[in-house]
Amino acid sequence: MPEGEVMAEHHEINAVAPSSLKHIVGQASVKAQVEVALDAAHQDAKKFDSALLVGGPGLGKSAMAKVIADEMATGYHEVIGQSIKFSSDLNALLLGAKDRDVCHIDECHEMPKQLQTALYLALDQRKLFVPGPKGKPQSIPIADFSLLLSTTDEYCLLQPLRDRMKLVLRFDFYTDEELTTVLHQRSQALGWAVEAEVQPLIAQRARGTPRLALRLLQSCRRVCRAEGSKTIRLEHLEKACGLETIDALGLGPTEQQYLRILGEGPTRLNVIASMMGLPARTVSQVTEPFLIRVGLLVKDDQGKRCLTAKGRDHLSKSGPQRD
Ligand SMILES: Nc1ncnc2c1ncn2[C@@H]1O[C@H](COP(=O)(O)OP(=O)(O)O)[C@@H](O)[C@H]1O
Ligand SMILES: [Mg+2]
Repeated sequence: MPEGEVMAEHHEINAVAPSSLKHIVGQASVKAQVEVALDAAHQDAKKFDSALLVGGPGLGKSAMAKVIADEMATGYHEVIGQSIKFSSDLNALLLGAKDRDVCHIDECHEMPKQLQTALYLALDQRKLFVPGPKGKPQSIPIADFSLLLSTTDEYCLLQPLRDRMKLVLRFDFYTDEELTTVLHQRSQALGWAVEAEVQPLIAQRARGTPRLALRLLQSCRRVCRAEGSKTIRLEHLEKACGLETIDALGLGPTEQQYLRILGEGPTRLNVIASMMGLPARTVSQVTEPFLIRVGLLVKDDQGKRCLTAKGRDHLSKSGPQRD
C-alpha cells in the first residue's frame, strides 16, 4: 500500500492491508520492539527472533506477523491453531519453511498440548522425528525459520513453549484517533470516498478494535452502494448501525443483551453465560473486556458482575428490552 499512490477502486476491505511497519497505526511499544528486532536481524543477517503476539481479537496480530515477513523480505507461512490436529499438520508447516522464513501460528493456544510439546522439542533440536520405513523413527532437519505465535490467551499455551519465545508483543486497544487514522488510510488505499465527519464516528463505535472499525466501514460502503451513492455519508453510517443493531458506544446485540441481564442486578459469570447461551470463557474473554475498559461493568469481591453508574445510564438510554 505505497503512500501517495493512486490506487484502483477495490470492493473488499481486505483487498489491501498494511505492508510495512510504517503503515501499522498505533501500538507504539509493539512497533518499537519490532523495529529493534528487525534492525538486529538485518545487522546480523539472521532470522527475526521468535515472538509471542498477545492480544484480543482484531487488534492487529496477524497484520503485524505479515508485516514482519514483508520487512524481512522472506517467505510467510500462516496456519491457524485449530487446523493443526495431527503431527502431520505440524510437520507440513515446519518442513515447508526455508531458513529465515516467517512461520505464523494464529490462535496457537488451540493446538493440542502434545503438539505444542512436539513444536518446542522440534525448535530445540531443529529436527523432526517422523516414522520412516518399517516404522523406525527417522529424523529430518528443519530450516532455521522464525516462529511467530499469536494468541488471545497466553496462559492456555504450555509454559515451556511460551518461555522459548524471545519477544512478547502485547497488543492493546486503540484510541478513537488511531482508529480514525486506520479508517482514513484504508479508505484511501481502497479508493473509497468517505465524508470527513464519518470516520471519527465509525471509530467511536469500533470498541478500540481495527477489525470492527473496518467491518463497520464495509457495512457503510454496502449501504452507500445499495443506494447508488459514491461517497459514504453520515446517513449511510446511521442506516448501517440500525441494520446491525450497533449502539452509540459500538455495542452489538450480544453486549446489549449482557448489559440488560446485569440490569436485573449483580450476576455470576456462569449464570450470565448460560442465559446468553455462550461458553463462559467467550463471555469473559470477548464480551467483558471492553465493557470493563469503558467503565460500564465491574467485578465485585465475590466475582459477581455489576453495572456501574455509567453502565446503568447507558442501559437506560438504549432502546426497549428485546429479550
Ligand atoms: N495497527 C494497525 N494499522 C492498520 N491496520 C490494522 C492495524 N491493526 C489491525 N489492522 C487491520 O485490522 C484488521 C484486523 O487485524 P488482524 O491482524 O486480523 O487482527 P488479529 O490477528 O489480532 O485478530 C485487518 O484488516 C488489519 O489489516
Ligand atoms: Mg489473527
